Amino acid sequence: MKPIHVGLLGIGTVGGGTFAVLARNAQEIARRAGRPIVITAVADKNLERAREVVGSTPGVRITDDAMSIVDDPSIDIVVELIGGYGFAKDVVLRAIANGKHVVTANKALLAVHGTEIFTAAQQKGVTVAFEAAVAGGIPIIKAVREGLTANRIEWIAGIINGTTNYILSTMRDSGRPFADVLADAQALGYAEADPTWDIEGVDAAHKITLLSAIAFGTPVQFEQAHIEGISKLAAEDIRYAEELGYRIKLLGITKRVAGGIELRVHPALVPAKRLIANVEGVMNAVLVKGDAVGATLYYGRGAGAEPTASAVIADLVDVTRLHTADPEHRVPHLAVQADRLENTPIVPMSEVETACYLRLRVQDKPGVLADVARILADNGISIEAMIQKEPAEGEGEADIILLTHITREKHIDAAIARIEALATTVGRVTRLRLESLAS
Ligand code: HSE
Repeated sequence: MKPIHVGLLGIGTVGGGTFAVLARNAQEIARRAGRPIVITAVADKNLERAREVVGSTPGVRITDDAMSIVDDPSIDIVVELIGGYGFAKDVVLRAIANGKHVVTANKALLAVHGTEIFTAAQQKGVTVAFEAAVAGGIPIIKAVREGLTANRIEWIAGIINGTTNYILSTMRDSGRPFADVLADAQALGYAEADPTWDIEGVDAAHKITLLSAIAFGTPVQFEQAHIEGISKLAAEDIRYAEELGYRIKLLGITKRVAGGIELRVHPALVPAKRLIANVEGVMNAVLVKGDAVGATLYYGRGAGAEPTASAVIADLVDVTRLHTADPEHRVPHLAVQADRLENTPIVPMSEVETACYLRLRVQDKPGVLADVARILADNGISIEAMIQKEPAEGEGEADIILLTHITREKHIDAAIARIEALATTVGRVTRLRLESLAS
C-alpha cells in the first residue's frame, strides 16, 4: 500500500529517537498502521546533526528550512519537535492551513495556544496529535481520552516532571540541599542548563493543563493554573515529612469540585505507602480517578529519546489509520466533541481545600505553642499531628511541625500571616499541602 509521508521538524533527542524507532520497527509499525510510515523529509538548523541521524537512509530530503517541508505537497503528516511557541506555532498553524495532520511533543505550545490550534485543525478537518507532550512514553492521553471514556473523571494527580522527581528523590536519599542536587543533575544532563521551567513547576503545569482539558472537556486554561515549584524546598522539610510517614512529590493536580475545576502544581506530602509516593528518580506516574473504574495508575519514562519517540509514533499510527476517515469520525482533540467543550471555571487557589504541613521556628518559651494553636483554632483549622524538635543547645529556638486537617487555602493563609506576626516566631512559616490520594 502507498506509504504515508512524514516530515520531521527538529532532529534533536526526540527526533533522532523517532527516526531510529521508525526505521527499526518499520515492518511491525506498517502491519499495525495498514501502510508504511516513512520519513521523507527532515528539517533542522543543525544540518550536520540531521545528516548524521539520517545516515545512508535513502529518500530523505534534509533541509534547514522547516517551512519548505510544511509547504511540500507530498508530505501528509508534519512532526513538530522544535519546541517553544514562536516559530513552532507558525509552523503548526501553517501545516494545518495546508491541510496536513500534525504530531507534536510541544506541551508549552498546546497549553498556551491549544484553543487556537485545535480550532484551526477542527475547521480544516485535520488532527493535531500530542501523546508525547505529556509524560513522554506513558500513553496517558490515550488512556484518559479513550480508555476511560466511560467515566466521569474525578481527579488526576501526576508526577509529570522527571527532573524535579530526580531532585526530590536524591534530596531525600542524600539529605543534601536543593541547590547542590540541582547542580549535580545539571552535570549529569538530567536538568537543562536553564532549569527554570522544570524546577518552578511550569513544565508540569503545561502537562496538567492538557490533562485537565481532556479529563473535563474544557478549553486549555494554563493561565489560570496555580504554579509552585521545588526551588524553595528545604532538606529538613523532606526529613520531617519522612518522619511523619510522607514523601514530598511535585504533583500536577486537577480535580472536579463543586465550584469548578482545580488546576494546580505544587510540592505535596503524599503518604509513603502510596504506590505513587515510591516513584523515584526521573520516572513519571499519573494517577487517574474515574467514577466507574476507581483509581488507575500509569507509570513509565517521562522523557528521553525512545520513550518519547514511542508516543510520537503511536500518534503517527493513529493518524495514519484515520487519514481517510471523515474528520467527524476521528477522536476529538480534547475528548469531547469540539462543540461540546464547557467553560467550567478554574477554582481560585484561595478556595482550594487540602490538609497542610506547617513548619515554623519559634522561641522556645512558655505559651508560644498555645498562641499558635489559638490562631489556628480562630481560623477554624484543626490540628492532626504535631512534632517539636529540640532546639540545638543554647539556641533557644525550636522547630514546630504541624499537620492540619483539611482546610481552605484562604484560612491557612490568614493563620500563617498571624503566626508570622507573632514576636515569638522566627522567620517565615513553611507551608506545604498534603494530598492523601486515597482511592
Ligand atoms: N523536562 C521534562 C522533565 C521532560 O524533566 O520531565 C520533557 O517534558
